[in-house]
Amino acid sequence: MRNIDENNITQAVLARMDGCSNPRLKEILGSLVRHLHDFAREVKLTEAEWMQGIEFLTATGHMCDDKRQEFILLSDTLGLSMLTVAMNNAKPAGVTESTVFGPFHVADAPHVEQGADMSGGATGEPLFVTAKVTDPHGNPVAGADVDVWHADEDGLYDVQRPDLVHHQGRAIFRTDADGSLRFRTVLPVAYPIPTDGPVGKMLVATGRHPWRPAHIHFMVVATGFERLITHVFRDGDPYMDSDAVFGVRSSLIGKFEEHPAGVAPDGSTQSVPFHTLNFDFVLQPV
Ligand code: BEZ
Ligand code: FE
Repeated sequence: MRNIDENNITQAVLARMDGCSNPRLKEILGSLVRHLHDFAREVKLTEAEWMQGIEFLTATGHMCDDKRQEFILLSDTLGLSMLTVAMNNAKPAGVTESTVFGPFHVADAPHVEQGADMSGGATGEPLFVTAKVTDPHGNPVAGADVDVWHADEDGLYDVQRPDLVHHQGRAIFRTDADGSLRFRTVLPVAYPIPTDGPVGKMLVATGRHPWRPAHIHFMVVATGFERLITHVFRDGDPYMDSDAVFGVRSSLIGKFEEHPAGVAPDGSTQSVPFHTLNFDFVLQPV
């Protein structure tokens, strides 16, 4: 094909994929080409702007290594991650909703006993969590693995502290026979997503803030049920309606209650005010 112009080029590129033997790949790439071309035509993309886009994506790639995934951060901040989560995790009413996974999960968190302190020395106000894992009929799910991770009072995850040699604020628990779960940790606070890369520049350039409302991450895995990846958000957080990665769902806002110094739910005496959270997770059978 010759004499390509701004209108017939889309069809020309699509035709070039006629020989693609993978129908799903053909559908995805074909749609991407159509939308990319329509986008360029709609905004009348200049060559300088095209180059700026290439440089931005190149810088995003250069920011990535085995600890930092700037492309996922870009997907998160453009709402693509949450869009994908929402499309692929529609749940019947009453089943706990999913939200973004985020970049701070690690595969080798320690397995710890019920009731343990999972802070690992992270600083913050004491928080005592109780939870229950059930099926949609309220029957307990025993033996579920519940992977928990969260930031400390500085808004940092342990993996963001390069000098730290052990885990902080992360652990895997197994639910009891009655589906229950209890542990101690520190109160998570709101934190900014990493802004020292191209995504941070994009946020500034578009007049956006980088903050996520305070939350605790949970991943619940149990035989016979869909894996649940979610958060519990801390009620009253000022960023609840402007989460930088669009992850908040009303059903995931937990009631974090503040208590004066005194006897805590685990029977210990706390010399400072402490917080409690109770939250129930309902899993979807496979
Ligand atoms: C998080 O909640 O850990 C997170 C999610 C998306 C981007 C950055 C952080
Ligand atoms: Fe987080």
